[in-house]
Amino acid sequence: MPMPLDRWPAELGATVERCTTLRAVRVVAETASTQDVARDFVSEPGIAVVAFRQTRGRGRLGRAWLDTGFEGVAVTFVVPVPTSQPPERLVMASAVGTARAIEKVAGLKVGIKWPNDVVRGHRKLAGVLIERSGDVALVGVGINVAQAGFPPELEPIATSLLLEGRDLDRFEVLRALFVAFDAALDASDDELRGEYATGDTLTGSVARFATPEGGFEGLVVRVGPSRGLAIRTETGERFLSAATTTVVSWKQGPASSR
Ligand code: BTN
Repeated sequence: MPMPLDRWPAELGATVERCTTLRAVRVVAETASTQDVARDFVSEPGIAVVAFRQTRGRGRLGRAWLDTGFEGVAVTFVVPVPTSQPPERLVMASAVGTARAIEKVAGLKVGIKWPNDVVRGHRKLAGVLIERSGDVALVGVGINVAQAGFPPELEPIATSLLLEGRDLDRFEVLRALFVAFDAALDASDDELRGEYATGDTLTGSVARFATPEGGFEGLVVRVGPSRGLAIRTETGERFLSAATTTVVSWKQGPASSR
């Protein structure tokens, strides 16, 4: 029996009591986007805004995130970020936290596709949108849990835990996400680098990227919390910004066989 909505606040409240950075929870029954609700809480870092249903979620680079219905997880974490901290650290922490939560609760090996998509093969299971507001970041995480299918245009690129053979209460996925995301925020750079590398589907592969300066192809040599994605090109090494880069296609690297 799925956790009823009226118990989400107390159950998640008990979870954040065991967390380091996360301190409080707001649960809304329905909203267009948890990112917008979270904007009202930028003066309260450590708060998490959860929607029972999110109808018009936003994705990276102006894309849309499908209505969660009652099948998906939608949450925005309001996270304190020192202005001196490179943005790539939070990018990696959010990917690692989301991937680890899914692996723990579903017992499913997943991959990470730069910057912070969580994938099974080439299909996306979860996505992260990070919006900065001064020394606070709004980290929005969407996870596909119980969708039995997707619209035709998403079908080749999206998946859910149910479609991957895991029939779970999305509340349990949410609870696992709180714990794993909080732990990832607290991890050292070395731990993050190692954890990210475990799931990394790009390093070692040749990928095509879209950037504001145009598209290009290169060998992905590494991902790090200070400079992000390093690509080897004919003219030397180039670093790509997580904020503006999209991976258009890639031939999977070694970690994808996990
Ligand atoms: C992406 O893959 O492009 C990022 C998707 C992020 C979706 C989440 S769902 C919770 C939060 N609220 C939003 O409107 N977007 C993020």
